[in-house]
Amino acid sequence: MAYTMLTIALPKGRLLDPTQALLAQLGYTPTVVGNGTRKLVAPDPHHAVRYLLVKPVDVPTYVEHGAADVGIVGQDTLREAESDVLEPLALGFARCRLVVAGRPDQRGLNLRLAPHLRIASKYPNLTQTYFQRRGLSVEVIPLQGSVELAPLVDLADLLVDIVESGNTLRENGLIELEEIARFEAALIVNRASRWTKREQIDTLVAQLEQLIRPAQNGM
Ligand code: PRP
Repeated sequence: MAYTMLTIALPKGRLLDPTQALLAQLGYTPTVVGNGTRKLVAPDPHHAVRYLLVKPVDVPTYVEHGAADVGIVGQDTLREAESDVLEPLALGFARCRLVVAGRPDQRGLNLRLAPHLRIASKYPNLTQTYFQRRGLSVEVIPLQGSVELAPLVDLADLLVDIVESGNTLRENGLIELEEIARFEAALIVNRASRWTKREQIDTLVAQLEQLIRPAQNGM
C-alpha cells in the first residue's frame, strides 16, 4: 500500500511540550512547528507526516472534519466538544480533574436547596449535563478563561473548571466542592482516515502504546 502523508494536529499551549516530547521519543520531529517559530503547518523532515499547530479547543474540529488525520487533545476538551472522532488511546499525561468549586463558606452547600445557581465555566456542555443528571436546573455562564474570578466578583455562585495542581483555586481563596470527572491527554483519529491510512495510524497507535504502557503500569 502506498504511504500518503499523515497529518497530525498538535495542541498549542500547555499540552504542546509533553506532546512534542512523546512524539520525539518515537523519532518524530514535531518541533518544526511552534517552539519560537510562527509556522502553523510543516512537514516532518524524516517521516511521511506533517504537523498542524492549532488551539486545543480546535483539535477535535480539525480531526472530525478530516483536515487532520489524528490529533492530541485533552479529554476535557474532547468531551466538551462532543466530536465524532475515534479515541484509541489515553496518553497518560496532562492528568487533571473537572470539579465544582466555590468560596470556603460554601463548603457543604446543599445544591438542591440553593435557588437559581449561576455556574461559570469554560465547559458549558459538561456543566449542564452534570447538573441535569442530578436533577438540578442551573444557569451556566460560559467564559473563555480566568473562570476562578467569576465567584469572586459575583458573576457566578460557583464555577466548574479543571484542577491540575490546585494552585489557581488556592491562590484565589477558593475550594473544591465536588469532583465531576478525571481526564488526561488522548490520541484522537478521524473515522475515515482510520481506514484510508490504516497502516500508518495502526503503527502510530502501537508505537505510542508501547511507549506509554510501562509508565502507566508504574503509576
Ligand atoms: C487552567 C484551568 C484552571 C487552571 C488549573 O487554566 O482553567 O484555571 O488551569 O490549573 P492548576 O490547578 O494547576 O492551577 P489555564 O491555565 O489554561 O488558563 P485560563 O484560565 O486562561 O483558561
